Amino acid sequence: MAIERTLTIIKPDAVAGKLTGRIVERLERENFRIIAAKLVHLTQSQAEGFYAVHRERPFFSSLTKYMTEGPVLVMVLEAEDAIRRLRTVMGATDPAQAAEGTIRKQYGRSIERNVVHGSDAPETARFEIGYFFNALEIA
Ligand code: CMP
Repeated sequence: MAIERTLTIIKPDAVAGKLTGRIVERLERENFRIIAAKLVHLTQSQAEGFYAVHRERPFFSSLTKYMTEGPVLVMVLEAEDAIRRLRTVMGATDPAQAAEGTIRKQYGRSIERNVVHGSDAPETARFEIGYFFNALEIA
């Protein structure tokens, strides 16, 4: 399996709720290497740009408003099979459907307030990493 990079975001309510340390600890324990990280308070248009693929979805306006309600921790993770493995560790989008032991099952509150984001494919990961980080910011 190839070494991959993926983007993860710890969402505003999780940062505000002081879950950051626990989530970072879990990701490191799962053998992801943090190669870039920053705390960002997104504007509405930055959130809309990031989630542009969901523009036509009924939840788009609520999602982008939610993502601007406070700072988020954005990180680039590197690992073997990182994209698929991160999604497994996060669990299903809806915490109610997520498997036991996943981050969303443990900390998620709803399908929208689901604690973490993770890229869903290599092309998406490239777009999402480039959205937040330039080459000099990735260690
Ligand atoms: P994320 O992995 O960041 O990708 C898109 C986000 O939209 C998702 O996590 C949820 O926060 C949100 N989302 C997805 N589906 C729904 C839905 N049906 N209703 C509300 N929010 C959703």
